Amino acid sequence: MTTQRPEWIPSDVDTDVPSAARVYDYFLGGAHNFAVDRALAAQIASITPGIGETMRANREFLRRAVRFLVGAGIRQFLDLGSGIPTVGNVHQIAQQIAPDAVVVYVDIDPIAVAHSKAILAGNDRTAVLQADVRDCAKILASPEVRGMLDFTAPMAVLLAGVLHFVPDSDDLPSIVAGLRDALAPGSYMVISNATSEGQPPEIIEAQKLSARTSTEIVLRSKADLLEQFRGLTLVEPGLVYLPLWRPDSPAAVGEDPEQAAAFGGVARKD
Ligand SMILES: C[S@@+](CC[C@H](N)C(=O)[O-])C[C@H]1O[C@@H](n2cnc3c(N)ncnc32)[C@H](O)[C@@H]1O
Repeated sequence: MTTQRPEWIPSDVDTDVPSAARVYDYFLGGAHNFAVDRALAAQIASITPGIGETMRANREFLRRAVRFLVGAGIRQFLDLGSGIPTVGNVHQIAQQIAPDAVVVYVDIDPIAVAHSKAILAGNDRTAVLQADVRDCAKILASPEVRGMLDFTAPMAVLLAGVLHFVPDSDDLPSIVAGLRDALAPGSYMVISNATSEGQPPEIIEAQKLSARTSTEIVLRSKADLLEQFRGLTLVEPGLVYLPLWRPDSPAAVGEDPEQAAAFGGVARKD
């Protein structure tokens, strides 16, 4: 399947292969996705009709977490796997409450990075870096990160909806530990990850479809995810199905929060 090529697409992007970032953008109602992404999204949704709600629940979890962190005094954010910018990005949420907040966005996807750069041009409290979260040493040493973030002061590392693109063979615990060890006391880590726990069997079929992108999804159990918070103290209510994490109102939780098919949590480095 070929598509007309708008000029905003970086030349090295293959528009005939779906991308996780663009499928997510589609489910969030964004405009930076192609026919292949929409076709894959439709196929996934035909197996798991609640998938769009899962993606929106993830984004809403991230926004609530950022508001919580700003309330806790955090003014520096390292957003890993930040995605294609949509309304209500991390810097918008954070800077609305604390105009002095700084954010570094990092994503592996060239379109996510190109759009982030375009949107953030002129915002001197943000930076954008194209990098792989698995290479955290490179990220932490990059001029974008070093120029914007002070590692002697508390910050928040955001890993929302990204670790499920890191296969177990890449030694997830050591990636997370590398990030955690770089943080000053008083810092926070945010993680959300898709799960098959409490889900109908179709979730496995949908997961297999994600292998058509270059980043197959890894569904993780609550126990596996709790391991990633080792050395940190989870803030209330702990690691929970996304809608249950500090909801804005009881009505916002809905009747079946487990249908979000993902866990989220926020933890502090003491
Ligand atoms: C589901 S989106 C999440 C976006 C945003 N963090 C949120 O929660 O709304 C996942 C993003 O992770 C990015 N991603 C996947 N694997 C990655 C990797 N190894 N390194 C950096 N980013 C990655 C994708 O390109 C995509 O933009």
